[in-house]
Amino acid sequence: MNARLALVTGASSGIGAALARVYASHGYDLALTARRGDRLHALADEVRLRYGVDSLVIPADLSLVEAPEQILAAVEANGREVDALVNNAGYGLPGSYAATRWEDQRALLQVLVTAPCELAHKVLPGMIERRFGRIVNVASLAGLAPGAPGHTLYGPAKALIVRFSQALHLETQGTGVQVSALCPGFTYSEFHDVAGTRAQVSDSTPTWLWLGADEVAQAGYEAAEANRPICVTGAPNKAVAALAKLIPDEWGMALLASQSGRYRKL
Ligand SMILES: NC(=O)c1ccc[n+]([C@@H]2O[C@H](COP(=O)([O-])OP(=O)(O)OC[C@H]3O[C@@H](n4cnc5c(N)ncnc54)[C@H](OP(=O)(O)O)[C@@H]3O)[C@@H](O)[C@H]2O)c1
Repeated sequence: MNARLALVTGASSGIGAALARVYASHGYDLALTARRGDRLHALADEVRLRYGVDSLVIPADLSLVEAPEQILAAVEANGREVDALVNNAGYGLPGSYAATRWEDQRALLQVLVTAPCELAHKVLPGMIERRFGRIVNVASLAGLAPGAPGHTLYGPAKALIVRFSQALHLETQGTGVQVSALCPGFTYSEFHDVAGTRAQVSDSTPTWLWLGADEVAQAGYEAAEANRPICVTGAPNKAVAALAKLIPDEWGMALLASQSGRYRKL
C-alpha cells in the first residue's frame, strides 16, 4: 500500500521546504511544487535518503490560472491522491498600491488566494470520501492585524486565508479532515530577500522576534494534527495577535502608520 501523500506548494525554500521535511518525517510521500525544479529535486533526494519516502516533483508557477489543475493532474497521472495539502507558496509585493502594476497585484492574489482556495476545493471531496485529510494554509500574523501600508494586498489576502481556514475547519468537523491556518511572524527564510527588504527588516527587528522555518513548520503540522483552526507561532507573536483583537483598529492602524516604514518599502 502507498504511504499517504502530502502536496506542498512553495516547497523549494523556507517554511514550505521545512513543512515537506516534517510530513516526510511522519512517513508521508510528497508532491513538491514551486517554480524552481532543481531545488525540488534536491529536496526529493534528501527526504528519500533521510526518511525513505517517495516524492513527485511538479514544477509550476502558481500565478498562472491553469497551475492548480495541472499540479493535481500530475498527481493523478501518478496514481496518487492528496491526503495532506500544504498551501504555503507566497511572497510579498512591496510598494505603495498606486505605484505597482495591476498585473503584479493580480498575480499576488492568484498565488496567495485563488490557487490555495482552488487546490483545497479540488482535493476536499476525495479527503471527505476517504475520511482522512489535512489542510494547512500558511497565512501570516499580518492576516490578524489591520491593513498596513506598503504591502497593500498582502495582509488582506492572508486575512482571507485565515477566515477561509476557519470556515473550512467548521465545515469539515466530523469528516476526518482537519484544517488549520498557520500564522507565522518574522521567520528566517528567503521571504525578505525576495521582497528586497532583508537589510531593512534585519536592522529594525530584534532577533527574539524571529523563528526558524523548522520550528514554524513543526507548529503547523502539530496544529493540523490537533485540529486547531489557527496557529500563531511563538510567544511574542501570540501576544501581538491577542493585542490586535483587544485594541480598536484605529489604534492598530496608527501604530502601523508610525512603525511600518521601518520594515516596508514605500
Ligand atoms: N518568512 C516570513 O517572515 C513569513 C511570515 C509570515 C508568513 N509567511 C508566509 O510563509 C509562506 C512561505 O514563505 P517563506 O517565508 O518560506 O518564503 P520563501 O523562502 O521565499 O519561500 C516562498 C516559496 O513560495 C514559492 N513561490 C513564490 N512564488 C511562487 C509562484 N508564483 N509559483 C509557485 N511557487 C511560488 C517559492 O518557490 P519558487 O520561487 O521556486 O517558485 C518558495 O518555495 C508564504 O505564504 C509567506 O507569505 C512568511
